[in-house]
Amino acid sequence: MANGCYNLINNKDFKIRKIISSLKSSPIRNIANSVIGKKDIIPLYFGETDIATPSFISEAMKNALDEGHTFYSANQGITELVETITTYTSNLHNNISSSRIMVTSAGMNALMIASEVIINPNDKVICITPVWPNFMRCIEIMGGKTIEIPLIHSDEDNKWKLDLEEIKKNIKNARAIYINTPNNPTGWMMNREEQKEILELCRKEKIWIISDEVYERITYDRKVAPSFLDVSEDNDFLIVVNSFSKSWAMTGWRLGWMIVPEGLLSIFEKLNEFNVASPSSPAQHAGIVAIKEGEKFIEKMLHDLKISRQITVDHLSNFSRIIFPYPDAAFYAYFKIKDVSDSEKFCFDTLSLTGVGLAPGTSFGNGGDSWIRICYAKSPKLLNQAFEKLKPVLT
Ligand SMILES: Cc1ncc(COP(=O)(O)O)c(C=O)c1O
Repeated sequence: MANGCYNLINNKDFKIRKIISSLKSSPIRNIANSVIGKKDIIPLYFGETDIATPSFISEAMKNALDEGHTFYSANQGITELVETITTYTSNLHNNISSSRIMVTSAGMNALMIASEVIINPNDKVICITPVWPNFMRCIEIMGGKTIEIPLIHSDEDNKWKLDLEEIKKNIKNARAIYINTPNNPTGWMMNREEQKEILELCRKEKIWIISDEVYERITYDRKVAPSFLDVSEDNDFLIVVNSFSKSWAMTGWRLGWMIVPEGLLSIFEKLNEFNVASPSSPAQHAGIVAIKEGEKFIEKMLHDLKISRQITVDHLSNFSRIIFPYPDAAFYAYFKIKDVSDSEKFCFDTLSLTGVGLAPGTSFGNGGDSWIRICYAKSPKLLNQAFEKLKPVLT
């Protein structure tokens, strides 16, 4: 970017869309990129566990390759996977029909497709923040105008709360509302009443709800988080995004799905065709096995995550500078350091001083200047080591 002219790169106008050349890169990536190839880094910045995909799923992928499942699949996804997701979702939520499901190349791709389908240039799109930064970038890529409505946090009760009043004030003329529950980075989980209220508001104004529920199984006091699927009809303006990444430790596989209103599948299939044609066929075969045989794995992972969450809570409560709302779900600790006002600088400094990689709150929307995210989906040993190293900068 030179002299305010976004497209001048090395003094040449490459005629790149202004929206793309001015798109902010992720501060989390900037921090991670600064230590690529360096040893002895403890990376707590990315949102993934440190366990590899369980072998029964990897074996299913190998078998699929051996059996010759190496061709394009239907745009919707392979039938058996679509049926498996239908049964899985219907068992966890309300009965839904398989004609509402499309397999995608993970949650990110599903969010992008949803955005491509519904957002026009200059559309006003509400986004509940703090949130995983890619949410807002999808909206921007499509030329939409993000209206951030932050969750309310007061230091006194130290909980996150949806700002329904602010949503009501802004909902008129909005094209869509993007919500991520359970939430990355806060661990906040929307409750049923809030979901009903948002749904009613959106029905009245004919506004899309994009609900990212990729952490729906990363809950500690229930089997699954409340979903918009529990309270909606099959023809609501609702798109639910889900993924194999978090529940089955499959981040690198790039497999997920979206649930769309009845009757609209063909619209979304076109976008699958023009983005990726179809998600990886052997990965889809492994996805069937992940869902059908994966409950024990999820149970064990949650048992371990609960221990990691407790270790994190115990460590963070030792520091009087830190305000830390207890995370109900997902696998992040999002905390405020009272006297920090530039979280990105704090994370860079912390990385060079301690070798521990943290994610700055500025990644997740406005108001994150004093906030830091840790992904605690790591072994107790690694977490204890990380906090030992962090002690001097957090004290
Ligand atoms: C809220 C949220 N949605 C979607 C994703 C994307 O997941 P994937 O593309 O791996 O399915 C992430 C990843 O961290 C996330 O935190």
